[in-house]
Order: sequence, then structure tokens, then C-alpha cells
Amino acid sequence: MPSKHSGNAIVTGGARGIGLETVRLLARKGMRVGCLDIDRAAAEEAATQLKVDGLQVEPIVVDVTDRLRVQQSFDTFLSGQPLCAVINNAVFIRFQPFSELTDESLEKTLDVGLKGAIWCIQAALPALRRAAETFSDAAIVNVSSGAAFQGSVGFSAYSSLKAGLTGLTRQLAVELGRDGIRSNSVAPGPIPTESALADPGKPSDWTSGALKRTPLGRMGTPAEVAEVIAFLATRPSSWVNGQVISVDGGKSISSHDLR
Ligand SMILES: NC(=O)c1ccc[n+]([C@@H]2O[C@H](COP(=O)([O-])OP(=O)(O)OC[C@H]3O[C@@H](n4cnc5c(N)ncnc54)[C@H](O)[C@@H]3O)[C@@H](O)[C@H]2O)c1
Repeated sequence: MPSKHSGNAIVTGGARGIGLETVRLLARKGMRVGCLDIDRAAAEEAATQLKVDGLQVEPIVVDVTDRLRVQQSFDTFLSGQPLCAVINNAVFIRFQPFSELTDESLEKTLDVGLKGAIWCIQAALPALRRAAETFSDAAIVNVSSGAAFQGSVGFSAYSSLKAGLTGLTRQLAVELGRDGIRSNSVAPGPIPTESALADPGKPSDWTSGALKRTPLGRMGTPAEVAEVIAFLATRPSSWVNGQVISVDGGKSISSHDLR
């Protein structure tokens, strides 16, 4: 157990993409961070690399849909210490036309992204309460998406998940806010992570369409999203509760193609 740090955080889906940049940034801010992922090799590799840089990062290998093991892994990582922030970022995506949506892919999308977030928040709750008492702040950050608000062909399961996560964010802001625990979301626009680019069902104009609509005229990076997540996860945002912050270069507020 590291001797000194400025609070614990857990990031789900922390082994790559936006999650990995969030793990890195929170650890650079002095936190001890649990890099939670279902992918053992990637989580261990990420933690090892970040430790080489002198950061306090521990791999937590668990499937967020497994409620019991999620609880056990949170308890093991924390061993009674407060948890300042839990970031729900893990996702399963399968883009499919609505008429072809299968039971299996819908269930997995909602299980990983929505139920998984609920199990993680429940597992975190006693330790978040301890952080709220000890540091007068504790935070839940749910990684939503512009897809919660805007339609795209093939996104019905994913959009349902992200709209659900946004509703959950607001509900918890009220229900847990009374205990000093804040709940907020980020809604990233398209970020060319390895997995986002690799999805075979994604619309062929995913990148070009996004570039046309985005006032800043470029894609974002995982690190740019991580900056906003880290803000919402830490004390500088102590008066922000129940909000969804778009991190998308202005894509969500432009009404037509710009170029
Ligand atoms: N990349 C984008 O364009 C984009 C846009 C908007 C929102 N987002 C959201 O940002 C978040 C991160 O996206 P990304 O592109 O970095 O994703 P990613 O696929 O690169 O990373 C997701 C991680 O989640 C892990 N994971 C999957 N299922 C899991 C499970 N059952 N238990 C634990 N871990 C599991 C994966 O192993 C992976 O490491 C997601 O919530 C996504 O919906 C991404």
C-alpha cells in the first residue's frame, strides 16, 4: 500500500482510450488510482507503465457486470479507505440498424454501460460517504456521449444506454447530494480511439461527418476528455452537481455542416 497520496479514485474501462488518459491524469494529480478493466493484460500493462513514471496506479481486473466481484474488488483496493471519485467509463458497443438489433447485443450494451455503472456506484458508496465526511467532497463521473442527445443510424442501443446513464447521473445528484456526493457526466463527441475506429458497424462517414459538423474542425483526443473528467472528479468542481458537460469541440450546438 503506498504511504502517501491525495485520495483514491477508480476508473472503469481504465486500460485504454479515454479511461487510460483519465487514470494517468488523476494519478498525476497525486491520487492513487484503480485502473479497473475486464482486460487483464491491458490493465496490468497500463498500471506497470504508469508506475514506471512514478504514479500510484493499481490494476483492478473485474467485469463490471459481475456485481459480487465488483464489490469484492472495490473492498480489496480500498481496504477501508475513503474513495474520492468513481468514474464509470467502461462500455460495450455494437452499432446495428434498429431492425437488426439482437437481444444479445442490447442486453450486453445495457449490462456493461448502465447496470455495470450502477454496481460500481453501489460498491463505492460507503467509501464515497467516507470521502465526503473526511474531505467534504466525493464525486461520481459517468462517461455519457453526444449520442444520448443526438440521433445517428445504428446507434439505438448505445443511445439508449447513454440516455439512461444521463438520467442516472441526475437522479444520483439529488439522492446522494444530500450525503455530499456529487454526480456529473461528460458527453464526448467522436474521439478516434482504437476501439471506436475499429467497430465494423459504425457509419462509414463517422469521421468525415463529425469533422463537417464540429466548429473546431478536428477530432478530440482522449486526453482532452480526461481533463474534464478529472475536473468533475476533484474539488475544483465542488459546486457542480447533476450536470452533463459536452466535450466535443462544439459539435452538439452546430445545426448544419460547416465545411
Ligand atoms: N471514443 C469515442 O468516440 C467516444 C465518444 C463518446 C463517448 N465515448 C465514451 O467514452 C468511454 C470510453 O470510450 P473509449 O473509446 O475510450 O473506449 P475503449 O473501447 O477504448 O475503452 C473501453 C474499455 O472498457 C473495457 N471494458 C469493456 N467491457 C468491460 C467490462 N464488462 N468490465 C470492465 N471493463 C470493460 C474495455 O476492455 C476497454 O479497455 C465510453 O463510455 C464511450 O461510450 C467515447
